[in-house]
Amino acid sequence: MTTEHVSVMPDEIVQWIGELRPRTIVDGTYGGGGHTRLLCEVLASDEGPDGESPLIIGMDRDPAVIRRDDVPDGPGGDPRIELFLGSYEKAPAAISHCGRTHADALVLDLGLSSDQLADRERGFSFTLPDAELDLRFDPESDLPAYRWLAIHSEKDIADAIYQFGEERFSRRIARQICLRAKEKSPVRTVGDLVEICRRCVPRSKNHDIHPATRTFQALRIAVNDELGILQRTLASAGDWIAPGGRIAAISFHSLEDRIVKNAFREDDRWTVLTKKPLRPTDEEVQSNPRSRSAKLRVAQRNET
Ligand SMILES: C[S@@+](CC[C@H](N)C(=O)[O-])C[C@H]1O[C@@H](n2cnc3c(N)ncnc32)[C@H](O)[C@@H]1O
Repeated sequence: MTTEHVSVMPDEIVQWIGELRPRTIVDGTYGGGGHTRLLCEVLASDEGPDGESPLIIGMDRDPAVIRRDDVPDGPGGDPRIELFLGSYEKAPAAISHCGRTHADALVLDLGLSSDQLADRERGFSFTLPDAELDLRFDPESDLPAYRWLAIHSEKDIADAIYQFGEERFSRRIARQICLRAKEKSPVRTVGDLVEICRRCVPRSKNHDIHPATRTFQALRIAVNDELGILQRTLASAGDWIAPGGRIAAISFHSLEDRIVKNAFREDDRWTVLTKKPLRPTDEEVQSNPRSRSAKLRVAQRNET
């Protein structure tokens, strides 16, 4: 399997991380491997004081991603790249597995890849109504979204849709989801949930946002604990990013961006290098529409 994913803000990532001439980079959201491949070109060319060779640690929660690339004639065969299956929250364990104590940079490109969106088994896309409503990055752990809906109360479902999707019609949607369960035809597929959202969410004024967008975002965030992982990782990163090292984080919606912004502001070990988030150029948005909502923030670990 090859990747269809086009990396977002590639020049900006290379510039902000490359100018450090880093020796150890954690690419916490490896995905299609696009950022990793580009960052290989800006790694330091020499060994560190303790003999550490230049290295990118690529991490992803999706087993299909790691299986695809961790092969001798793929990126995993490149001595500059070590691939790990697991959440980027486990970066300190991956770093120490590679015999190091710190990384010089962490890159996060949040959300899902075009490959995951296109995968019929995952339920990420509204255009595949017959797919099971799964929404997990790692289909081998935790619960698929349809099971998550089955074990939570109407109130919990409404709260999650409101909190993680900022959906004003969360209560109506949760009520319909629970009504279907009572009628012994619980939500199971993408199409089931899209149909409920269409009935509960009035069309937006210029029809620019699909009525199910916010609900799918919310369930994906809940099922994968996306915001919790981001928050905990950024809170601990000051312990395992070397002084002078950087984090570059690309987010795709306001909840993620707020967490990144506040994590950098509230921790005095970091200096924010991007006062306002950087946005993709018009040319990039035109050639890669997925980039349109991207926001990149960069912070540097203080020396003391
Ligand atoms: C937008 S894609 C990354 C694309 C990549 N930067 C590139 O240029 O090809 C996001 C990836 O992050 C992965 N992911 C999401 N949450 C994760 C987590 N907590 N830990 C590790 N990987 C995660 C997803 O499985 C997906 O493959």
